[in-house]
Amino acid sequence: MQLTMGLLLTAALASVPAAAGNQPDDDPGYDQARWDPIHFKPAIDRAKDEQCLKCHNKVLERTVRAESPAGVKADEVLAWYQTLDTYTGVQDSFHRRHLVTDYAQRVMDLKCNTCHQGNDPREETASSSADASGELTQRKHVDPNICLMCHGKHNSAIMGIPPGDWRVTGAAYQYDCLLCHNSLRTNRHQVNFLKPGAIEAAAKENKDVCFGCHGGRAWYRIVYPYVRHPWPGSSNAVPEWAKDRPTESDPRYLIGMEKSG
Ligand code: HEC
Ligand code: HEC
Ligand code: HEC
Ligand code: HEC
Ligand code: HEC
Repeated sequence: MQLTMGLLLTAALASVPAAAGNQPDDDPGYDQARWDPIHFKPAIDRAKDEQCLKCHNKVLERTVRAESPAGVKADEVLAWYQTLDTYTGVQDSFHRRHLVTDYAQRVMDLKCNTCHQGNDPREETASSSADASGELTQRKHVDPNICLMCHGKHNSAIMGIPPGDWRVTGAAYQYDCLLCHNSLRTNRHQVNFLKPGAIEAAAKENKDVCFGCHGGRAWYRIVYPYVRHPWPGSSNAVPEWAKDRPTESDPRYLIGMEKSG
């Protein structure tokens, strides 16, 4: 009985034309799309944004409400992390603020796979079964260390700057990071998700540029232990705190980069 019903239903559905205009012609279907190898290593590392956006274009199209259900107007509020001098334009979504707004495009070159490293759609938690891949982060989640690189605490302790908020302590340095960093740790930002030349140019115009990614929007109370590249004029003596630091950026962030000296 059930079988017959099932067959009848299938037959009936088959005769209904697919809803026009809803899906692209080459729609692979939900499950196949969800399990598309592009979501997983190794394919995800080489994926181009255009490939992801074929299915996920909403991620960049969606923006925020003009007014919240409680009546707060988006253009009348500014959050603490939007008070840096580099913040411009209307309130926008997380993805758009990192990928398409003017400032994002000027100093960064983030790709989908800079943050998205794959996940296991069957598991909320990685490593929950013997055959699960231990490399995967939580379902849909992004490794927070990626965020920490640009949203960590300003590490004044290793810089010889008195402890405290740079917005206060910075007065002694005219709030200018370049006072020291014109000659210190100058071999920086040579990775595929940043625009190193544009960052330096922007920093000369606007003192909040460096701070913006190194303490000015700190979601975390901890510091990020940056890679420590040798720089022109650096000595061979490695400070104690840097003993375990790598001297080359993560190879994942060098994919597609010209090898520069
Ligand atoms: C062929 C279409 C297709 C392509 C190409 C594609 N995705 Fe997806 N993706 C899906 C579908 C379908 C889902 C499941 C959505 C759901 O369950 O809500 C999904 C889920 C996701 C999720 C949420 C994971 C979860 O389990 O909730 C993320 C993040 C994601 N994709 C990122 C990407 C990125 C990054 C790329 C490019 C490297 C990409 N996708 C390429 C179709 C695609
Ligand atoms: C700056 C890091 C970052 C970048 C770059 C990024 N994402 Fe995301 N994405 C996230 C985070 C964080 C979430 C939320 C994860 C969670 O819910 O656990 C997310 C969620 C998603 C989701 C599921 C939820 C939703 O909003 O629909 C999809 C699909 C997705 N991203 C696709 C993309 C695609 C496609 C790109 C490239 C155009 C991209 N992302 C670029 C960090 C990023
Ligand atoms: C390469 C550096 C970089 C990375 C990596 C990064 N961010 Fe950001 N983030 C920024 C910059 C720069 C801005 C400010 C954009 C602007 O002013 O338009 C920002 C803004 C934000 C905002 C505020 C958006 C708004 O409406 O003002 C949030 C929230 C945020 N980031 C969270 C995250 C999270 C979570 C991650 C990790 C998934 C992440 N960021 C990864 C650089 C980064
Ligand atoms: C008084 C000089 C001075 C000022 C001002 C200064 N720094 Fe530094 N900074 C240093 C020194 C010293 C180091 C460590 C050098 C080394 O690796 O031996 C450093 C290291 C760093 C590092 C690398 C941290 C790590 O974990 O390896 C970053 C990022 C950084 N500074 C950003 C900034 C930013 C952004 C500003 C302005 C908000 C700033 N600095 C202001 C002296 C300074
Ligand atoms: C858009 C975000 C962003 C801006 C703006 C930015 N940085 Fe960075 N910075 C990063 C990231 C991400 C890294 C880590 C890159 C890597 O892993 O090689 C980094 C690394 C560094 C390092 C470590 C260098 C090394 O040895 O590899 C120093 C020092 C530094 N930044 C200082 C600065 C200064 C000074 C400015 C302003 C001129 C600045 N940053 C502006 C995101 C930013």
